[in-house]
Amino acid sequence: MDMNVAVIGAGMTRFGEFWNMSYRDLITEAGVKTIKDAGIEGTEIEALYVGSMTPGLFIEQEHIGALVADNSGLQGIPATRVEAACASGGLALREAYLSIKAGVADVVVAAGVEKMTDVSVEHATVALAGAGDQEWEAFHGATFPALYALMARRHMIEYGTTEEQMAMVAVKNHHNGSLNPNAQFKRQFKLEDVMSSAPVADPLKLLDCSPITDGAAAVILASEEKAKEMSDNPVWIRGSGQASDTLALHDRKSLCRVESAVRAANTAYKMAGVKAGDIDFAEVHDCFTIAELMAVESLGFCKAGEGGRLTEDGETALEGRIPVNASGGLKAKGHPVGATGVAQAVEATMQLRGDAGKRQVKDAQLGLTHNVGGSGATSVVHVFSREVK
Ligand code: COA
Repeated sequence: MDMNVAVIGAGMTRFGEFWNMSYRDLITEAGVKTIKDAGIEGTEIEALYVGSMTPGLFIEQEHIGALVADNSGLQGIPATRVEAACASGGLALREAYLSIKAGVADVVVAAGVEKMTDVSVEHATVALAGAGDQEWEAFHGATFPALYALMARRHMIEYGTTEEQMAMVAVKNHHNGSLNPNAQFKRQFKLEDVMSSAPVADPLKLLDCSPITDGAAAVILASEEKAKEMSDNPVWIRGSGQASDTLALHDRKSLCRVESAVRAANTAYKMAGVKAGDIDFAEVHDCFTIAELMAVESLGFCKAGEGGRLTEDGETALEGRIPVNASGGLKAKGHPVGATGVAQAVEATMQLRGDAGKRQVKDAQLGLTHNVGGSGATSVVHVFSREVK
């Protein structure tokens, strides 16, 4: 497992509500941008992995691997759909990475796509609930906002986390999103806007939630030999970790510690030979504001229970000690579930190339992405670097 792997191309659509674009249009746009960015020919791509959570429920389409290959003019290559709820994109990235590590291919695409706004929000809520335990959670009415509300309440009880601290995540991420041309929301919010937004699942309010989004993203990965031949600005994947946990929240030892993310992060750190303190920026899975607080704890940026304080002290702001979600995160950039994990990799690539414009993290050398499925039953973490080692 000593083959180094690099990102040699990255691209995404804008995220948002696009009634004039189909699932196919989204994936085509992201694919074309990525191939152009890499400056290679489609014929050089040997395999593709695509993350898509539930196109069957959103647009009544399955067989996504073949659809994406067909639509991209890549008919003939192995094309595989990967599904792990909201971590589908992160897992597609990992599968593409592993296929190069295994020596099966040298140039592989990892893509992610979801078209969520063609159905009503009620329909989308039911589709998303499938990421949890249908029998023990969804059947009893536990939607995703409800599950994360339970986690938030428990975090508040155990650690004294406040609703204001959660709201600060939304204020920060909407600020960052206003600097990102690809973000769904460009509008900034004040703390009082978040605090007075409509209740969704107490204590979570509208502005604590990520939105319903359409979008697609893709990266092209290459083995070290090919990367050096094909690219003059590769970004290296130094570590990759994946872990699972119980599907249902109530089966966990703790409602507010995401054990799968802790494990995935430790695996990725170990593989990369780095520690949490070495990371310069992170794109984390803030599907709800409480999720970002739990993420920074899982990743070791602070101790368990101190995510609220870390945020309140401005440490996770763009100019802070460890900028988190410079892209605007799921909260403001948007959360087309299957695309999210790949879009995080696109952001990490842009940051490490120094191409992130107004939201550029200063002196970014080492970045991390953290993608979670369901309430934490799957986590996928990657460490990216400007240097190969
Ligand atoms: N953040 C910020 N603004 C949002 C938003 C969000 N999450 N969701 C909607 N808005 C805005 C809309 O743009 C709209 O603004 P406008 O009036 O200026 O046009 C307004 O809020 C109302 O939008 P609407 O479409 O009526 O919202 P909704 O009630 O249908 O949906 C949620 C709001 C929070 C229920 C929905 O976004 C949701 O379910 N989010 C969670 C998604 C989820 O669970 N993902 C999986 C995570 S694991």
